[in-house]
Amino acid sequence: MASFKHLLGIEGLNPVAVTNLLDLAESYALLNRSGKTQRDLLRGRTLINLFFEDSTRTRTSFELAGRRLGADVVNMSVATSSVTKGETLLDTAATLNAMNCDLLVVRHNRSGAPALLAQKVGASVINAGDGTHEHPTQALLDALTMRRNKGRISGLTVAICGDVAHSRVARSNILLLTMMGNFVRLIGPPTLVPGNIATSGVEVFHDMKKGLEGADIVMMLRLQKERMTGGLIPSMREFFAYYGLDRKKLSYAKPDALVLHPGPMNRGVEIDSAVADDAVRSRITEQVEMGVAVRMAVLDWLARGGVV
Ligand code: NCD
Repeated sequence: MASFKHLLGIEGLNPVAVTNLLDLAESYALLNRSGKTQRDLLRGRTLINLFFEDSTRTRTSFELAGRRLGADVVNMSVATSSVTKGETLLDTAATLNAMNCDLLVVRHNRSGAPALLAQKVGASVINAGDGTHEHPTQALLDALTMRRNKGRISGLTVAICGDVAHSRVARSNILLLTMMGNFVRLIGPPTLVPGNIATSGVEVFHDMKKGLEGADIVMMLRLQKERMTGGLIPSMREFFAYYGLDRKKLSYAKPDALVLHPGPMNRGVEIDSAVADDAVRSRITEQVEMGVAVRMAVLDWLARGGVV
């Protein structure tokens, strides 16, 4: 029997842990729809949301998840500009230790920051996105959304499109989806989808038509301008023409292919509103709903010792 103190990435998890988390999250999705809560589960426990980077969905859903399970939730927003990385993180760790926090949710612009904090604090650390490294709860909520709609989370062809190079969402999804036996395609310009990014079970395409053929799921990624140093794309207009998902490009995928996007969306850049708001093909709002359920499952699981 293995046990996990922290959730720092999909890396290190195994298919049994992923399946158990998705099953638990599914039960929380049903509980949430029924309007009930389970406030006794984390009663007396403290959850701190420590966000060194902006966030809407992730921070709010961890807050809701913690509250629905009865935890005391504190939000700490830290301005990145005033941070001298190492020192401040360790100072922060000392402060958090003094507060006897039980669950620490961390988002940081540096890859590896949550892992560093995990070595210094007594709390269970949950990575809510670190640099270009990982965003494990996003991959879990994406997997739950896929499983609910396709009835399985294996043997699917999933196309991940756009700014893969800067995306922690893509990295965590690649790890989870290949671990569970799906076929992953990465589609985008060579500057954003370098050929060497492919690992086993992953194929790279620079052409949407070829890459989307036969896809069950089309996952669009935000163009992460804040992480780009040079001019990696000629212009937004050109990017949309070649890689933006509109009805025409979606028609290259399977007729029942579903569209995902982790948000926030750049409408008219990586995705057309007609597709994003299509009630039949888009599952973007369901992803947000599943985000709360997945985060409840992760908090519950870690608070009970993270046993697999
Ligand atoms: C993602 C993130 O922050 O990594 N957003 C999210 O958590 N929903 C993706 C992004 O910022 O584009």
